[in-house]
Amino acid sequence: MKFRSLGFRVTAWYAGMLAFSFLLFGTSTYFGLSTFLHWELRSSLLADSTSIAEKLLDHYRGQAFLSGEISEGFAPEVNAKFIRVTDSNNQVLYVSKPPLNGSFNPNSVPRLTFSSIPASDYYVDRNAGHAELYIVVLPYSAQDGHKYIVEVGAAQNRIHETLDALLLIFVIGMPAFVVLASFGGRYVMRAALRPIREITGTAEQISLSRPEVHLPVLQTGDEIEQLARALNRMLDRLDTAFQEIRRFSGDVSHELRTPLTILRGELEALLPYASVNMQDELGSCLEEVERMARIVDQLLVLARIDASGEIPRDIVDLGQLTKGTADQMRLLMEEKALTATFDIAPSVLVEANVWRIKQVIVNLLDNAIKYSRNGGTICIKVSSSAQKAWLEIRDQGEGIPAEALPRIFDRFYRADNSRSRGTGGTGLGLSIVKAIVIAHGGAVRIESIEGMGTTVCVELVLAQGHTAEPTTPPVSPAAIVPS
Ligand SMILES: Nc1ncnc2c1ncn2[C@@H]1O[C@H](COP(=O)(O)OP(=O)(O)OP(=O)(O)O)[C@@H](O)[C@H]1O
Ligand SMILES: [Mg+2]
Repeated sequence: MKFRSLGFRVTAWYAGMLAFSFLLFGTSTYFGLSTFLHWELRSSLLADSTSIAEKLLDHYRGQAFLSGEISEGFAPEVNAKFIRVTDSNNQVLYVSKPPLNGSFNPNSVPRLTFSSIPASDYYVDRNAGHAELYIVVLPYSAQDGHKYIVEVGAAQNRIHETLDALLLIFVIGMPAFVVLASFGGRYVMRAALRPIREITGTAEQISLSRPEVHLPVLQTGDEIEQLARALNRMLDRLDTAFQEIRRFSGDVSHELRTPLTILRGELEALLPYASVNMQDELGSCLEEVERMARIVDQLLVLARIDASGEIPRDIVDLGQLTKGTADQMRLLMEEKALTATFDIAPSVLVEANVWRIKQVIVNLLDNAIKYSRNGGTICIKVSSSAQKAWLEIRDQGEGIPAEALPRIFDRFYRADNSRSRGTGGTGLGLSIVKAIVIAHGGAVRIESIEGMGTTVCVELVLAQGHTAEPTTPPVSPAAIVPS
């Protein structure tokens, strides 16, 4: 369970609020009902005592009269009531008999005298039996001047039983209800958050290479639908802006090519007529122009990779293509007395654009050659699994510092500017590799230990179920744009 998820937090808040409301409701109901039931009991007992006082004591005609009238009018034994009348001499004039249900014994209720009348108009007796007696006390002065104490009581156990039953319902029912409501709330939250989960899943797939992917819009008519629509409009605007930028950099590179070619031609034409000193100057100018022309070419390649949506693909034998390309670059290796070893699995077929994959191999081999020490070895391996194809190029060169590795695929990034400038690098080779591999739905990884060497691994998707003859690797050296 994700404790920080919106669904969990809202459900927890909801359950907490519900439990708190129930607690508040339960407590107020319990105490409200208790007050009401006691008030009702007290009122009825008070009415009885007032009635005894006004009807019987104002016209008092002896104990027999009192006993007869009370038994007839109030039937305390049948109604399980306690009635006692005491005169001003603290003489008990009447006390009711034990009730038929035997719940208390009236004679066990301690005597009340005028000097021991409680401050409140009632008291509770717990000693007269298993019933708790709630007894209302009414001191009364009759019309003839005599004073009496009238006590009328009844068991308050029924009130306790009712309150206990209510408490039981609350204690068992409310937590069960909170748990049930929480599960219900969690279900509702999950359903409500489903569009957000879908939006998140799709948003993960959106990238510059897949601008066509848009967020799913569930027609719920709520804020989430509005959000998804707004985000899709934003993605469209961003896509348009990126296309403008790509087109611009493609146009700039393209426009720069012709003047650079003219410049190079004119510098070369001037060379034979220049003095020896001037020839050095012109030669260095030519070098810079050629460097600039290479950068412009590479930028154009990148702009084309970025701009092209679906690239035309063939079935390519990755092993053959790698071997053929390495053979074409043999001269560069020989210049540094490098040895190439091959471990090439047969028929590793990938569905790819042959020219672009060749560019990947050229750029990686170019790096392996450029950054190797003289006399080193370059290991080239092509392998596959059920679904993936791998091209691995390992050298024993100077390696890349660990802090430079995360930025190595950035455009124009060079691990060591002085070193790379000496080798004529522009820092675009690996970014071209990455752009091509990603456009093919693959991935590229680099591992390096400074001073020990570098391994670059390109992963491509294996062409499934193809029996067609794979495209033969291009042999024209013109196809190679070395970095
Ligand atoms: N095999 C390698 N061994 C050591 N360093 C490497 C290797 N491959 C790449 N690098 C480092 O990564 C940097 C970027 O490589 P990248 O190929 O993008 O540019 P470059 O080789 O400098 O220029 P170019 O655009 O001509 O390829 C290089 O400057 C180099 O410092
Ligand atoms: Mg390079």
